[in-house]
Amino acid sequence: MKKNFDIIVVGELNVDLILNNLPSLPMEGKEIIAEKMNLTLGSSSAIFASNSSVLGNKVAFVGKIGKDGFGKTVMESLEQKNVNTDFIIQTEDEKTGITVVLNYGEDRAMVTYPGAMETLNIEDIREDVLKLARHMHVSSVFLQPSLKKDVEAVFQKAKSLGLTTSLDVQWDPEEEWDINLKKLLPLVDVFLPNEAELLALTGASNIDEAIETVRPYINIMAVKMGNKGSRGVTKSEDITVKPYLNKEVVDAIGAGDSFNSGFITKFLENKSLQECLRYGNLTGAVNTTAAGGTGAFTSLEDFGRTAKEKFNVKN
Ligand SMILES: Nc1ncnc2c1ncn2[C@@H]1O[C@H](COP(=O)(O)OP(=O)(O)OP(=O)(O)O)[C@@H](O)[C@H]1O
Ligand SMILES: [Mg+2]
Repeated sequence: MKKNFDIIVVGELNVDLILNNLPSLPMEGKEIIAEKMNLTLGSSSAIFASNSSVLGNKVAFVGKIGKDGFGKTVMESLEQKNVNTDFIIQTEDEKTGITVVLNYGEDRAMVTYPGAMETLNIEDIREDVLKLARHMHVSSVFLQPSLKKDVEAVFQKAKSLGLTTSLDVQWDPEEEWDINLKKLLPLVDVFLPNEAELLALTGASNIDEAIETVRPYINIMAVKMGNKGSRGVTKSEDITVKPYLNKEVVDAIGAGDSFNSGFITKFLENKSLQECLRYGNLTGAVNTTAAGGTGAFTSLEDFGRTAKEKFNVKN
């Protein structure tokens, strides 16, 4: 059956208010002036959705925001990247989440108000909407307690409707890591942790041990390893693919989400594990050539040009 969307993203939405060029980090009772300010679309899920769209997928989003100015910024930013926003819920009861980022030299301090994302729940993820897509991607479960509570049932629902699925849990700010991997991972076609998250989730003391701990439950797992590239594991395979090294990293914000976009793009084209990892490494590396998570993904042409100029790849 012809589907309306390649990917439906279920996840958190917020804006980032970024204050740059500070004379210091602020101190209690004092005021400082930032020389630069930027209000942008934040959130791992939104970076994934935007970049997946730029890479050529038809993408829709299911998430929750407030009926407010920041919510409008979120909607407009996604629409600008051609992400369908019809299924984003705008509630009167909650405000749109925000992260205030204070950048001072190499250091930064952040304050997050999660807002509406905390109440996104299984009822909001409608079957008739899931049915429109080939694939469901879920990100940042620990920032979304109502979603986390029923995360296995959400994946079960998608699988029973015939979708393939992927999951990037992201960091748990409470460091409780309270999800049931044994039950959840068999429902996840592509599991996308980074090394630190995999160690924390399994309680293992090294990566090999962590991989063996989850191996009985996974389908495909791609472990993101920063400037060491990525490692792909299935029940029968275990391969490491070298990165496209970028010696002039602007910042690595969203590199993991961009990796996810690249990997899932090739997964949906039924490409080999090796090729999914290679393209994930490329989209992750391109991400690091511009500021923020979406800066390097303005269009497919621009992405291709950067891949060619910086990494000598004709993707
Ligand atoms: N300095 C770098 N040079 C080249 N490629 C990089 C660099 N940093 C990251 N990448 C690529 O991006 C991928 C994802 O980055 P990373 O491992 O930092 O993910 P993550 O920890 O999930 O990131 P995020 O903070 O976005 O959640 C890596 O596997 C690698 O392929
Ligand atoms: Mg990540």
